Amino acid sequence: MAKTNEFTLIRPDDWHVHLRDGDMLKAVAPLTARQFARAIVMPNLETPITTASAAEAYKERIMAVLGEKSGFTPLMTCYLTDDTDPDDLIPGFELGAFTAAKLYPAGATTHSTGGVTDIARIEGVLGRMEKAGMPLLVHGEVTDPDIDIFDREAVFIERTLAPLLERFPGLKVVFEHITTSDAVDFVSSGPQTLAATVTVHHLMINRSDMFKGGLRPHLYCLPVAKRDSHRLALRKAVTSGNAKFFLGTDSAPHAVSAKEADCGCAGVFSAASALELYAQVFDDEDALDKFEAFASLNGPAFYGLPVNEGRVTLKKTESGLPAAVEVGGGETVKPFHAGEALAWTLVD
Ligand code: NCD
Ligand code: ZN
Repeated sequence: MAKTNEFTLIRPDDWHVHLRDGDMLKAVAPLTARQFARAIVMPNLETPITTASAAEAYKERIMAVLGEKSGFTPLMTCYLTDDTDPDDLIPGFELGAFTAAKLYPAGATTHSTGGVTDIARIEGVLGRMEKAGMPLLVHGEVTDPDIDIFDREAVFIERTLAPLLERFPGLKVVFEHITTSDAVDFVSSGPQTLAATVTVHHLMINRSDMFKGGLRPHLYCLPVAKRDSHRLALRKAVTSGNAKFFLGTDSAPHAVSAKEADCGCAGVFSAASALELYAQVFDDEDALDKFEAFASLNGPAFYGLPVNEGRVTLKKTESGLPAAVEVGGGETVKPFHAGEALAWTLVD
């Protein structure tokens, strides 16, 4: 494709984001709303969102921060537990309180201790979701401490995801924030009910970047970045035009003090510039013509939602990012790519 310096696309959506709550919500939600019309909002708050009424209250807190004029729509999710009540979940989906349900294997990541301990325990819930057409969003890592952390996604496919798809052939499943060529291959060759989100950081960094010149806590997230061959497979997948891959930032802010700590939290905070950085990836791959499908079309098609009406324009002019975003109480969060130039800038 000929090089271009400006392009316009249908306003995109973020199909996986952590907006948090309280002061952090106030600091980060406007950054997401600046770029995206809708976002799938993760339910892993300190007290996870496990009921439709909790999701509605959380949605109101988000909209109290953003205001109706923002035009932003949070799409809420339910945090599945061993005790999820299908008689709250399914009506919650049918009445629009929930758009999807999230499966965190217990202990897999931040605030997942209350997650599902064994898929067998939620078989009944999954069966009801399958019938209702409610998407299941999966954090795809095994939690077995004997499995090397870099292998946990690949092992999850074999042990959990493949059997799950066989058992529930009609269930829509999003394999979230994939990081391996194994996941790319599995999704590409899988059924139409299976799709995947890809973060911008996994398209840009590999595991060596976490150790470049010293330990880089702000690049640590889960699933952890893998070796470069996997990053290249992800770049190929998102620029292939395959509709099974769509944008999900997994922007996961943690205060600097919680990242730069003896036991630092997992999460890359990319919401300040995600769209610009994705554009850079597609441009570097000479694939800007595939960007709109990835960012604005494939997600709604999978979820069965309309595409957005507005449009956004990206220009190839360099801009910078703040080194830190204030989050109240003297705390800050550090954006992905902070202090580095952005090749593309979002202009409205
Ligand atoms: C997420 C978080 O901080 O909530 N962290 C992360 O590294 N991605 C949780 C998650 O999505 O795994
Ligand atoms: Zn996440």
